[in-house]
Amino acid sequence: MKPGGQFIELDKAIHNRKSFDCGRDELNSFVRQFAVRHREAGISKTMVLPTENSENDLFDICAFYTLSHTEIKRETLPTNLQKKLPRYPIPVMLIAQLAAHSQAQGQGLGKVTLIRALRHCLEINAHLPSNAVVVDALDDGVQAFYEQYGFKVLDSHGNRVRLYIPMNTVSQLFV
Ligand SMILES: CC(C)(COP(=O)(O)OP(=O)(O)OC[C@H]1O[C@@H](n2cnc3c(N)ncnc32)[C@H](O)[C@@H]1OP(=O)(O)O)[C@@H](O)C(=O)NCCC(=O)NCCS
Repeated sequence: MKPGGQFIELDKAIHNRKSFDCGRDELNSFVRQFAVRHREAGISKTMVLPTENSENDLFDICAFYTLSHTEIKRETLPTNLQKKLPRYPIPVMLIAQLAAHSQAQGQGLGKVTLIRALRHCLEINAHLPSNAVVVDALDDGVQAFYEQYGFKVLDSHGNRVRLYIPMNTVSQLFV
């Protein structure tokens, strides 16, 4: 599986959603069935890294990420980050989904996808500011993946740990 040059918005006319398999059913079914619908419903936007070459005019998906909005409670942030923040919900960007195809894992593509997602958050932030980027880790391994790039634990939702990285920190990654 050879990745093409750049991420583009998921398009069911040119991307083979059914062939995507990252080893996680919930992420597979999201990209196969829900990502386009959620875009049309104005809920989220999914960007994919297609393969370099197509088969029957369809490009397989090497990796993808999905961005959305959410909000967090000020009190869940560490005290030093609460300063100057109002006492009502704080808007943040959400990396709602992120995955690399099983055939492409372990080759740096997850890292590339996360960096691209963070850069995309920063671009949106230039137009409409958000305080942080958050992500819900599916398990301890995924949590460790995000923590190595500076994400910190915010709180827990059921069996998922929510991680965050301040937008100020994200902006420093791209100076
Ligand atoms: C998590 C995932 C995106 C990582 O992608 P990947 O292409 O395998 O990861 P990379 O090759 O880019 O690895 C980058 C770094 O993260 C580390 N890493 C990768 N997966 C990890 C994991 N599960 N736990 C801890 N570290 C991990 C690698 O060792 C590597 O570290 P290094 O730079 O020091 O060598 C990928 O395994 C995946 O899609 N998993 C299934 C879907 C999923 O769980 N998504 C997360 C939803 S919250």
